[in-house]
Amino acid sequence: MPATIIMGGQWGDEGKGKLTDALAGTADLVVRANGGSNAGHTVQTDQGTFKLRLIPSGILNPDCRSVIGAGVVIDLATLVSELRELNARGVDTSRMVISDRAHLVLPYHQRLDRLEELRREGDEIGTTLNGNGPAYADKASRHGLRVCDLTRPDLLRRKLATELDSRNQLLVRLFNDPPIEFEPLYRDLLDWGEQIGPMIAPAEVLVQDALAAGANVIVECAQGAMLDIDYGTYPYVTSSSPTAAGACQGSGVAPSQVSRVLGVYKAYSTRVGGGPMPAELNDATGETIRRRGKEWGVNTGRPRRTGWFDAVAARQTSRLNGVSEVALTLVDVLDVFPRINVCTGYRAGQSILSHVPALLDTLDDASPIWEHLPGWEADTTAARAFADLPRAVHRYVEAIEARLGAPVRYIGVGPARDQLIDRTVS
Ligand code: GDP
Ligand code: IMO
Ligand code: MG
Repeated sequence: MPATIIMGGQWGDEGKGKLTDALAGTADLVVRANGGSNAGHTVQTDQGTFKLRLIPSGILNPDCRSVIGAGVVIDLATLVSELRELNARGVDTSRMVISDRAHLVLPYHQRLDRLEELRREGDEIGTTLNGNGPAYADKASRHGLRVCDLTRPDLLRRKLATELDSRNQLLVRLFNDPPIEFEPLYRDLLDWGEQIGPMIAPAEVLVQDALAAGANVIVECAQGAMLDIDYGTYPYVTSSSPTAAGACQGSGVAPSQVSRVLGVYKAYSTRVGGGPMPAELNDATGETIRRRGKEWGVNTGRPRRTGWFDAVAARQTSRLNGVSEVALTLVDVLDVFPRINVCTGYRAGQSILSHVPALLDTLDDASPIWEHLPGWEADTTAARAFADLPRAVHRYVEAIEARLGAPVRYIGVGPARDQLIDRTVS
């Protein structure tokens, strides 16, 4: 059985965790493909709410094996504490697998993330300050330390000494910041390495063996395709590829083994951090969306910027990622509006754009072109079948399908596990 990719189609926080948990119920393996502790994936079960950062959102399904793929960058302190918290809540993590090829996020990456943001002075990316950018930069420039290095203390010592020396020079000379001590860090790494030791394995081999045996494999992305380093709003992006292509690369699944790409989209837009967002609402409507959708960051607590659904950005990510099915989440957040808008183009000077341009200045004075749709002003949270939803929701879903060129299969009407409509079942 081929693989399913679950990816975010906007700027992250679309509900990937909830969809991954839902599909993991019938899956054998969930592989997280990219990002690191910058992610925050919420899963709500009858045991409560879980906020996962590095651990795949399949972990709450006991029959499904969870794998951290090679494309993830791992901050070991966060991973170890996440494992501990899950164990304390009775979740079995003993069968988890961590790719020996995954790169490590080290304390100097986190420090540099913060210092580089400070240096941008007023033009910050608005990163989560988890060190992801500097860790991926080290990976690309071949200065990274990997999970496999933890299994060889002598090798680890040598590599860490070399890398820490050059990062300390940067910290001290360029940023006027204190250096990081070698011994305590080395000891921490050995300690964390020992704790995750039994989970370290060649994950791509496991994934390929599973696919060959006909297993149902899910690849879970972090972030969203508008934060992609190539096709997002660079430089206001993350440092990995939260795309269908990135999902393959980061998980060890070949493109020809993918049977479906599930694009998760919110029924409106949110974004955390800097960068253009033409459909943003800096008014009472935006505030209502924030309050109803509880739009504050899972990790950072930052208020998320809110706006109407941006069909320009969404159509772009749907096309570039070959989205074959859509999950439209948080539809219930729109329950109170008499009218709902969808951004169908950007008016920039004399021209109308139907794609997100590379040069972001083009968007400085851009204004959204709205399509107006009727609201439903009804509570959708108890709906469990498409037929239970008001006619205006059907119209909204159809409008989104037309823009994305893909069918909306799942509809989210609340954060709980059962607040998800699967149109092929109902
Ligand atoms: P992720 O990063 O894509 O996994 O998404 P987050 O977990 O960061 O953010 C999504 C938020 O919306 C979480 O608080 C979820 O519990 C919540 N959520 C997911 N689906 C729905 C839905 O259909 N309705 C409502 N009201 N909340 C939802
Ligand atoms: P999940 O997986 C929303 C954003 C940050 C910032 C930019 C770069 O929960 O959807 P980084 O720390 O990656 O260098 O920050 O990307 N960002 C996210 N926004 N959800 C996420 O993850 C995000 N991960 C990173 O806010 O704008
Ligand atoms: Mg999130």
